[in-house]
Amino acid sequence: MNEKNIIFTVNPGGALRGERRVPGDKSISHRSIMLGSLAEGVTEVTGFLEGEDALATLQAFRDMGVNIEGPDNGRVVIHGVGMHGLQEPKGPLNMGNSGTSMRLLCGLLAGQAFNTTLTGDRSLSSRPMRRVTEPLAEMGAVIGTTEAGTAPLNICGDQPLRGIAFDMPVASAQVKSCLLLAGLYAAGRTCVTEPAPTRDHTERMLQGFGYSVERDGATACVEGGGKLTATNVEVPADISSAAFFMVGASISEGSDILLQHVGINPTRIGVINILRQMGADITLSNQREVGGEPVADIRVRSAPLKGIQIPEDQVPLAIDEFPVLFVAAACAEGETVLTGAKELRVKESDRIQVMADGLQTLGVDARPTEDGMVIQDGGAGSTLGSGQVESHDDHRIAMAFAMAGLRASGPIIINNCANVNTSFPGFVTLAHGAGLNIKA
Ligand code: S3P
Repeated sequence: MNEKNIIFTVNPGGALRGERRVPGDKSISHRSIMLGSLAEGVTEVTGFLEGEDALATLQAFRDMGVNIEGPDNGRVVIHGVGMHGLQEPKGPLNMGNSGTSMRLLCGLLAGQAFNTTLTGDRSLSSRPMRRVTEPLAEMGAVIGTTEAGTAPLNICGDQPLRGIAFDMPVASAQVKSCLLLAGLYAAGRTCVTEPAPTRDHTERMLQGFGYSVERDGATACVEGGGKLTATNVEVPADISSAAFFMVGASISEGSDILLQHVGINPTRIGVINILRQMGADITLSNQREVGGEPVADIRVRSAPLKGIQIPEDQVPLAIDEFPVLFVAAACAEGETVLTGAKELRVKESDRIQVMADGLQTLGVDARPTEDGMVIQDGGAGSTLGSGQVESHDDHRIAMAFAMAGLRASGPIIINNCANVNTSFPGFVTLAHGAGLNIKA
């Protein structure tokens, strides 16, 4: 995997300007390959994220016999094999750094006639998998994990699945999606109830492929035994990637950036809601719907930010954006308090600890708590310090600290940035072009 230590060096100052389009949505890209592969007919995907995570999903389906053309400039053509057309792969399927690939595929593969093994890199191999294997076992799946409940996952094929009604203990779109995908292969109905709204791309895309999903409040249900019909998928730009530029522009004086064609699904816009509450100047224009997903152009101009108590109902809606939101908080006047975000400890890294460590290196009073963080007044217009921080191979940590450079007093050196390619290929070039003084 990413053995090489790519180091980002960010020189202080600068502003973000111009019109930019960040790469395609990671969550939607994964799902387009999965559903396109299981559909009857040919699915054309445009705007596909050519990042390592989505490519791991693509490779897994190739390994299971699906003919997939591309990606070529974000265009992928999938020759669907139908619900029962996948073939046994020759060896383990390597999911790399991608939790979404592993958890969603685990559900989908539990319903196949053949055995599979899912592996991942060091980070993925330490992430909790019982949250999916336990409810899948209730459905009749047989899946082996390590004693710690982690990958490799050994999935036994040819197990009859039955639908269940599952109340999710954590708000997780990966768990919800995993069970809905297993539910496509189960006898009867599979219903998943979430404790708080999480991203609903799986439900939307299933419907786009002609598969009925019943939604009643916090519950989504599918009936097993249906089929998917190929359709075209246009992937919007990823709001989770746009978020770095939204924060960067907010904290650097003189910034005015337009982020084009960004997905603004209501289950993903926590970052906009939180930044606006902090005083950010964000306007949406050209709002439209593309392939069942709302998109807009997002203009962000610099503005003085103030610290807030982040509303807990926004946490699942901004779950991937906290690394960079912590940077925003460090540049805000007053105290910012995050609670109810324990999930951040089991992402690609422990994002509470790792961000607190890095911010402290930059002289910020950032105190980690069990389920969040307290970040004290950096003072209006104040600068962050400089120094060397660790990304711990976590793409979003690396990009968050890169944006901190816009408000730093000296250079910020960020170690182990190779995994930025999992979600944001071309980040350095795009960010440099927009005005960040970054080099790799
Ligand atoms: C994702 C769900 C979220 C998110 C991840 C992508 C998805 O994970 O953090 O980056 O595509 O379903 P959880 O379900 O673990 O919150």
